[in-house]
Formats: sequence, structure tokens, C-alpha cells
Amino acid sequence: MKACVTAFCVCVTLIACAALASQDAPPAAKRDKESVYGEIDKAPEKARAKRNPFERNAEAVAAGKILFEQRCAECHGEAALGGKAPSLRAVEVQGASPGAIFWILTNGVVRRGMPVWSKLPEPQRWQLVTYVKSLGTAPSETADDLTKKP
Ligand code: HEC
Repeated sequence: MKACVTAFCVCVTLIACAALASQDAPPAAKRDKESVYGEIDKAPEKARAKRNPFERNAEAVAAGKILFEQRCAECHGEAALGGKAPSLRAVEVQGASPGAIFWILTNGVVRRGMPVWSKLPEPQRWQLVTYVKSLGTAPSETADDLTKKP
């Protein structure tokens, strides 16, 4: 009888483990296939169409640079060329509309490590957008492994 109970416990444990493993598998596989820039394409039309009130404004670029160094450089690198997080000078970001970048800042990509910046006042978020846009495209230096597409 004791052996029976033990066998039953082992079985239950194995089934539980198998169930957990099969639950984990699909999202992990999905993450590999999804580009690190996939999220910016998901910005809704209305968000995309928003105009940057500081478009090409030199003061906003300067203010955005300071904010970037304080808030973003630790992950995206001093020159936004990538580090722990992907380069922001890739065509996927530089080619996106200012509204789409603003939307990313407002909503983050939390499940993938990009924080939400909705607590930053809107003008500061636009200054960041203006700064990022002012950088233009450049090949990534350090985030090759992150930005490589499968
Ligand atoms: C804690 C690290 C971290 C910080 C700080 C951070 N980011 Fe990110 N960011 C990420 C990661 C990780 C991704 C990639 C998300 C993904 O895989 O979709 C990302 C993605 C992005 C993207 C591309 C969106 C996309 O399509 O995925 C933009 C634009 C961006 N960040 C801008 C910024 C700006 C501007 C700041 C400063 C306000 C900032 N980030 C601060 C980690 C960070």
C-alpha cells in the first residue's frame, strides 16, 4: 500500500512538471521569433499620427539629450547604439513616426524589459522623441545579439 501511495505521488509530480514545462514553452519560442523592434509597429494609427510639438527644435534636442543620459543610456547606451537594450539608431526606430516612439515611451514593453515612462510629463517625452530622432541611423555597436533577426 505504501509503495502504491509513493508511486501515485511520483506520478502526480511528473504530470505537474510536464504541465508547467508545456505552459512555459510557447512564449519562450515566440520571443525568439519576434524582433526586438516588433512593438513599435503595433502603435495604433491615432498614436502614430500625433504631431511632435518640438519637431526639429534645437532646445528640445538639448533637453532630450540630458533626459536620455539620465533615464535611457544605462540600457540603450550613451550614444543610443545599444547595450543591455537594443540600439535606437536602427532603421526600425529612426524610420518610425515620432508618434509611434512617443507611444512606446508612454506604454513601455514591460514584459520585455522596456519600462513605462508615462510618469514623465508629456513635453519631456516629446523632448526624448526629438532627441532620438535627431540621432539618425547608425550600425549597432554592442547589441548585435539583441538586434539580429532570426
Ligand atoms: C531598464 C532598461 C531600459 C531603459 C532604462 C530604457 N529602455 Fe527602451 N528598451 C528596453 C528594452 C529591453 C527594449 C526592447 C523591447 C522589446 O524587446 O520589444 C527597449 C526598446 C525601446 C524602443 C524600441 C521599441 C520597440 O519597438 O521595441 C525605444 C524607442 C526605446 N526603448 C526608447 C527608450 C527611451 C527613450 C528610454 C529613456 C526614457 C528608454 N528606452 C529606457 C530597455 C530599456
